[in-house]
Amino acid sequence: MAAGFTAFLMHLLNLLSLLSLTIAAPLTGSSSSPSQTTTTLQRLLQSSKTTKQDDFYKPPTGFETKPPGTILQYRPVPGNLTFDNKKPVFPKAAWQLLYRTQNSVGAPIANIVTVLVPYNAKKTNLFVYDWFSLSPSPLCLPSVGMQIGGRADNEDIQAQFLVPVFALNEGWYVSIADDGGPQAGFSSGPLAAYAILDSIRAVKSSGNITGISSDPITTMYGYSASGNAVSWATELQPAYAPELKVAGAAVGGITPNVTFLMETANGKPWSMFGPPTVMGLSHEFSNLSHWLDENLLPDKAAEFRRVENQCFRSFYDMQNIDFGGYLRGGLSAFLTGVPLSVMEHAGIQGMHGTPRIPWYLFHSAGDDASPIEEVDKLYAKHCANGATIQVSYMLRIHTSVNSLDSH
Ligand SMILES: *[C@@H]1O[C@H](CO)[C@@H](O)[C@H](O)[C@H]1NC(C)=O
Ligand SMILES: *[C@@H]1O[C@H](CO)[C@@H](O)[C@H](O)[C@H]1NC(C)=O
Ligand SMILES: *[C@@H]1O[C@H](CO)[C@@H](O)[C@H](O)[C@H]1NC(C)=O
Ligand SMILES: *[C@@H]1O[C@H](CO)[C@@H](O)[C@H](O)[C@H]1NC(C)=O
Repeated sequence: MAAGFTAFLMHLLNLLSLLSLTIAAPLTGSSSSPSQTTTTLQRLLQSSKTTKQDDFYKPPTGFETKPPGTILQYRPVPGNLTFDNKKPVFPKAAWQLLYRTQNSVGAPIANIVTVLVPYNAKKTNLFVYDWFSLSPSPLCLPSVGMQIGGRADNEDIQAQFLVPVFALNEGWYVSIADDGGPQAGFSSGPLAAYAILDSIRAVKSSGNITGISSDPITTMYGYSASGNAVSWATELQPAYAPELKVAGAAVGGITPNVTFLMETANGKPWSMFGPPTVMGLSHEFSNLSHWLDENLLPDKAAEFRRVENQCFRSFYDMQNIDFGGYLRGGLSAFLTGVPLSVMEHAGIQGMHGTPRIPWYLFHSAGDDASPIEEVDKLYAKHCANGATIQVSYMLRIHTSVNSLDSH
């Protein structure tokens, strides 16, 4: 994923340079970017204060009884938005809405969605951008990570803010829900689905704050881990949010079966996502959390759990690890019992329903993180059940993992 991700960013950067003339004027500040005076350590310390100590993330008493999607509180985004931790990007307005949703097992939680208002806004267009934070740490969530002053090891992730910038340039409202919820439950499909669906409910009812129409033409976009999130959201939408109108969803680079991934990525570069995935799931599933307490080897546990306080770039040194080497009973212990049940509940797409929202499914034919056969299986299943899916197997991203560090 990482190398493909790098290629993806290079692709975006190229596009950006082509488009810079049109977007620079309304969206970015003057060309004099603030000089980097803060050291990495200062930035880390600074950003480690967010979410846990920021009262805005704490829901008001009694929020549990409000309907899903209810806006609980709101404020302007406190810092400046950015895609490179330096240059500020100025949409016409940027709001954070705290809204009621639920976690993977249906318990009420409050999550943040960031709503960006473009200049010359088309009030009837909403682009739901699904951000991948690729980490089980709340420090890497988009509501924090898209602002200047974020952690240095989250800067690759921050660069995806270019996609919302393109959408703003079209005059579309953009919404970005925190993908992992307040507990950073990275990689749990149901959590991501509820967070996205309820964020759309919240944004559609935010007209008297953001100015958006109550019934905008709504589209969703996600690539890689957030392609998974969009896939899950569209799969659960008919049951969870049947009233929600979404015109279409772009679903790219998905890994439909996390169990398959855990097996096939072991010992390879993508194994760097093993510990973050498992720690993320353990935030949502207490049985998995207890299982880890008992099954992580005592002398390896700290190394495994460190990912809870780190963002994507810090996981690079976990490429090619033997995941089983952290566990009593090795990898096979992870592919049975509690961990398997959790992965089946939260990590396998196509088991909970058929999307009614039409898909644009894009995938790289040579994707070595997610073999196309796995994607084809899901595609065939959804189509057999009446889904509308347009497929493009042209983009060459998620490949050449051997050059992970070469950019
Ligand atoms: C955002 O950027 C503007 C212009 O560069 C600056 O005046 C302002 O202080 C910045 N805000 C924050 C919260 O850093
Ligand atoms: C927006 O409208 C809703 C519903 O009418 C109301 O509950 C809420 O207080 C309003 N918010 C603002 C900021 O006016
Ligand atoms: C997911 O992958 C696992 C491991 O390869 C396999 O046993 C299982 O059948 C797969 N599930 C689906 C729905 O493809
Ligand atoms: C672990 O918890 C999840 C969520 O409640 C449940 O679906 C799963 O079956 C549980 N696993 C076991 C082995 O009980």
